[in-house]
Amino acid sequence: MASPISGFSNKSKKEKIQWLADTYLTGNPDAIDTLKKYWNADEKLQNLHDDFIENTLTNYYLPFGIAPNFLINDALYVIPMVIEESSVVAAASNAAKYWLERGGFKTEVISTVKNGQVHINFFGSDKNIRAYFSEVKPKLLASIASIERNMKKRGGGLLDIQLVSTTEKLEGYYQLHCTFETRDAMGANFINSCLEQIAQTFESESTHFAAFSEENLFPQVVLSILSNYVPECLVRAEVSCPVAALSFKKVDGPEFAANFVRAIQIAKTEPRRAVTHNKGIMNGVDAVILATGNDFRAVEAGVHAYAAKDGHYTSLTDAKIENDIFHFWIELPLALGTVGGLTSLHPMVKVAFEILQQPNAKDLMQIVAVAGLAQNFAAVKSLLTTGIQQGHMKMHLMNILNQLEATSEEKEKAVTYFTDNPVSHSAAAAFINQLRD
Ligand code: MEV
Repeated sequence: MASPISGFSNKSKKEKIQWLADTYLTGNPDAIDTLKKYWNADEKLQNLHDDFIENTLTNYYLPFGIAPNFLINDALYVIPMVIEESSVVAAASNAAKYWLERGGFKTEVISTVKNGQVHINFFGSDKNIRAYFSEVKPKLLASIASIERNMKKRGGGLLDIQLVSTTEKLEGYYQLHCTFETRDAMGANFINSCLEQIAQTFESESTHFAAFSEENLFPQVVLSILSNYVPECLVRAEVSCPVAALSFKKVDGPEFAANFVRAIQIAKTEPRRAVTHNKGIMNGVDAVILATGNDFRAVEAGVHAYAAKDGHYTSLTDAKIENDIFHFWIELPLALGTVGGLTSLHPMVKVAFEILQQPNAKDLMQIVAVAGLAQNFAAVKSLLTTGIQQGHMKMHLMNILNQLEATSEEKEKAVTYFTDNPVSHSAAAAFINQLRD
């Protein structure tokens, strides 16, 4: 068994790789070469990536693709997507084209309020902490003046602080629930800095509050952090068209629309289906979040919490037929940024923003919601008609051919053959072997 290592982060990149190779990669003589092959020849660019995290050894590629023809509120967009799953960009492009011919996507930002909490222990009287909060609130607000200065210039800042008792659920548990507007920044650093300052002021000022001293029971801050659950930072995207215009391949419009609505009802009813249904939505959402340098873990956590907000996990999309019009929509909580963080650092993110015509955070919320809705439309459309495997395996064919180390000529022949034949790993292997024989 290898022994623990101390001072690892202080070693040079080459020393780290050598240690790893000597300790864990002894069975793979190519490992060091593979790691180095992914270094960027441009030293400045490589250093930039090295500094994103600790102990960077190399880079890890994901494809950066685009899905064109998205008509959003009557403007045309090309959406950049970063994802490894073969059929996602193709599905997004198909859905974009389909809705381009039916009026496009309509979107609306419903609200942009973010939030964070100072979580507090207090076992004294409720009356005392309420009285204290009223007294200290102006001081809490004043204490973050310097942190807020720049954000206020941009039209953002702390919106309010409320004292919330959660003692019915957990004895002695109170919160300072703080709401924020962070404009084009995702705002994590700003919110956390404000919360930590508010927490410090709240605790230090409490030592002078007479009623606490009389009971000898003071509030104690447990922790302060933003919430990635942002149901008040909400965006909506919708498509609609006459039912008759929905006809698809051999399925006529009314039948397709009815089946589509039924598929959504199933996802609304059955959590096992809802999770997969929503996973398909997140194929689109995460791909744009990654391309634009946003925090996909934050978005994932918040979106799934939102899907369970009514006490059971359900579909993020909804559909209905009303007066022979098919409506299909999504509502997503999204805290995104177009300034700060990785967005200002990663050269590919800058390219992504240029492709998107320099969106602000509200624009980006709408684009991401559209990507999710389009992806869901494409997935459900396939599931209701051809099944998912046909399209998926067609796109996956290249991966199989690469695994089989097919030459360009073999690939070309395989693509032609599999246009009309079902794709599977064994069928592709048999086809290539036959060519080679
Ligand atoms: C696959 O990545 C996503 C789907 O499973 C989504 C769905 O079932 O709706 C196709």
